[in-house]
Amino acid sequence: MQKYTIAVVGAMGAVGREMLKTLEQRNFPVKKIKPLDIPSNAGKKITFQEEPIAVEAAVSGAFKDVDIALFSAGADASKVLAPTAVTEGAVVIDNSSAWRMDENVPLVIPEVNPEDLSWHKGLIANPNCSTIQMLVALKPLHDRYNIKRIVVSTYQAVSGTGQKAIVELNQQVQDYVTGQPIKSNVYPYQIAFNALPHIDVFLENGYSKEEMKMVFETKKIMDKNISVSATTVRIPVFRSHSESINIETEKPFKIDEVVTTLNEAPGIIVVDNLTAANYPLAIDAEGKDEVFVGRIRRDFSIDNGLNLWVVADNLRKGAALNAIQIAETLVQKALI
Ligand SMILES: NC(=O)c1ccc[n+]([C@@H]2O[C@H](COP(=O)([O-])OP(=O)(O)OC[C@H]3O[C@@H](n4cnc5c(N)ncnc54)[C@H](OP(=O)(O)O)[C@@H]3O)[C@@H](O)[C@H]2O)c1
Repeated sequence: MQKYTIAVVGAMGAVGREMLKTLEQRNFPVKKIKPLDIPSNAGKKITFQEEPIAVEAAVSGAFKDVDIALFSAGADASKVLAPTAVTEGAVVIDNSSAWRMDENVPLVIPEVNPEDLSWHKGLIANPNCSTIQMLVALKPLHDRYNIKRIVVSTYQAVSGTGQKAIVELNQQVQDYVTGQPIKSNVYPYQIAFNALPHIDVFLENGYSKEEMKMVFETKKIMDKNISVSATTVRIPVFRSHSESINIETEKPFKIDEVVTTLNEAPGIIVVDNLTAANYPLAIDAEGKDEVFVGRIRRDFSIDNGLNLWVVADNLRKGAALNAIQIAETLVQKALI
């Protein structure tokens, strides 16, 4: 079996660490792993397949022996370094928002639009974590009932912001418990015991950039005719995003058919037993690969309306796993 040299750019970060773990767990055919990060992190050690490996600086020249470069170092790094990596011969799978809406770059969720990988030119974008879990859940329903409109509200974990936000929530909880003053550096307000309707920057249209990512990415990945209205909220959960999703479909549906359709779709686990108070929970989704769907119920306020509660691990399916599934699909389809 052919094996590949894999660079992980941003290897010391929240997604980078999860990428290394996911490559190990899925037995991806790795010939050599190259952890790359900012030059000041060069020399620090990460562990891969029980071996300590020194982190190297992510600079031009670092990709000459690389087959696949998994980027999770932020948009600024990707804008500069991803084209460099492609020029040096690597196929880049980028987790940042830098290239997602570029018309020459496929934006791919393997369960939704794997066919778009066929036209890649060396750079492939991984969608936003909130978009990924929403579209994994909605694609089988769109195929069957044709979704016209989506109204989504998110409840997003701090790990979606990165490693520094995980540390900040931990510290704020400790300071609250011990009666110390609470300091906020990553977020504009205290995140512990709070909810912030503010993810990424605000735009002139009154929405946050995170909200508009869900609108534009849904159209690019699944169907340009779908209308999306999103409200994205950060909550004091370490890991896994939850979403309240309301859809309006063109075709009528029966609830038991919806459940069967979701149960049969790839990457989804239905957790929906109200008598046992069974529904998807952020803490249960942590470390899992699947998207969990529950609270499946008709919206009686409109014709053909449906409500869902959708939960997935943002570091896993929302980032690292999706990127590695893209790499696996490239290998399977001989697109690399
Ligand atoms: N977290 C998620 O759930 C999630 C989901 C989907 C997509 N993403 C995207 O993935 C990217 C990384 O997110 P994250 O949560 O892992 O952030 P993170 O924890 O802050 O990790 C980013 C890592 O990249 C390093 N870095 C910064 N600039 C770099 C450069 N120019 N070259 C090489 N390394 C550099 C950072 O070093 P320093 O910390 O020392 O600056 C850090 O080690 C972001 O674009 C994010 O939007 C994240």
